[in-house]
Amino acid sequence: METAEHARAAHSHQRAKKAIKARYRSAAPQGEGPWNDTIAHMLEHRSVRAYKSDALPDGALERIVAAAQSAATSSNMQTWSVVAVADPERKARLAKIAGNQKHILQCPVLLVWIADHSRIRALGESAGAPVEGLDYFESFLVAAVDTALAAQNAVVAAESLGLGAVYIGALRNNPEAVAAELALPRGAAAMFGLCLGYADPAGASDVKPRLPQTSVFHCEQYDPGRTTSEALAAYDADMQAFQSEQGMAPAPWTTTALARFRNAQSLNGRDRLKAAFRALGFAMK
Ligand SMILES: Cc1cc2nc3c(=O)[nH]c(=O)nc-3n(C[C@H](O)[C@H](O)[C@H](O)COP(=O)(O)O)c2cc1C
Repeated sequence: METAEHARAAHSHQRAKKAIKARYRSAAPQGEGPWNDTIAHMLEHRSVRAYKSDALPDGALERIVAAAQSAATSSNMQTWSVVAVADPERKARLAKIAGNQKHILQCPVLLVWIADHSRIRALGESAGAPVEGLDYFESFLVAAVDTALAAQNAVVAAESLGLGAVYIGALRNNPEAVAAELALPRGAAAMFGLCLGYADPAGASDVKPRLPQTSVFHCEQYDPGRTTSEALAAYDADMQAFQSEQGMAPAPWTTTALARFRNAQSLNGRDRLKAAFRALGFAMK
């Protein structure tokens, strides 16, 4: 009995070590810590950009949405909604908005995650009650945060079912067109999409390394000194190794990060988002 337990503990220790190493490569933190299947699943996450055409099992979407609705939500206001798009023609139109990303065409279902004030606006209207608080930036942020928390719960649930997923922020290239395509009411706007489906093993990707924990994890007070130039250089090297392994052109993360935020143009048209969301009913005062 004790031997079986020891074997289990040793196996779990090995699995943890391997997963931490995959996530952090040269910056893998040493030391022990608790480990279980939930953490193991989360550490094994990788975005999936190649899908088989197989449909999701019956009832899977409903379970995934139940997991999403189980996320914490600011003041229990639940200011988000999700639209599942499986119609190939509608997916194709959404893919076009999102820069023709082929995985949107391939995946059997695209979930579009919506920051949604429309339910509470409608409630205010039918109750004859003002809902002026919705007009402030804080309320937009609450909806955006709630939407992201719900979506990430959905990703964890989907991955636990053996499905793959990739977020599609590029739907924000044209929020007005997405709103028209999905018949969104006033006060509702797509924050991002999420491709779901079974990964095509031919296009399998690996676990992408992250910044060292020392850079993102602070105790008591933030210490910018924890992000050293040596740590960034090591991360650049780890990312380049990862990209080479995946058959991608190696590009240092620091170069990519600086290019991503260089100027308004580097946001690929998304520098106008405040105006777009205002037009969709988020005043953001
Ligand atoms: C909000 C959000 C939007 C994203 N948008 C896209 C996208 O439009 N297309 C894409 O291929 N990946 C997209 N991604 C996936 C990221 O590129 C990916 O999560 C990141 O490179 C880390 O890789 P990993 O998920 O495999 O660990 C997005 C991720 C997030 C969180």
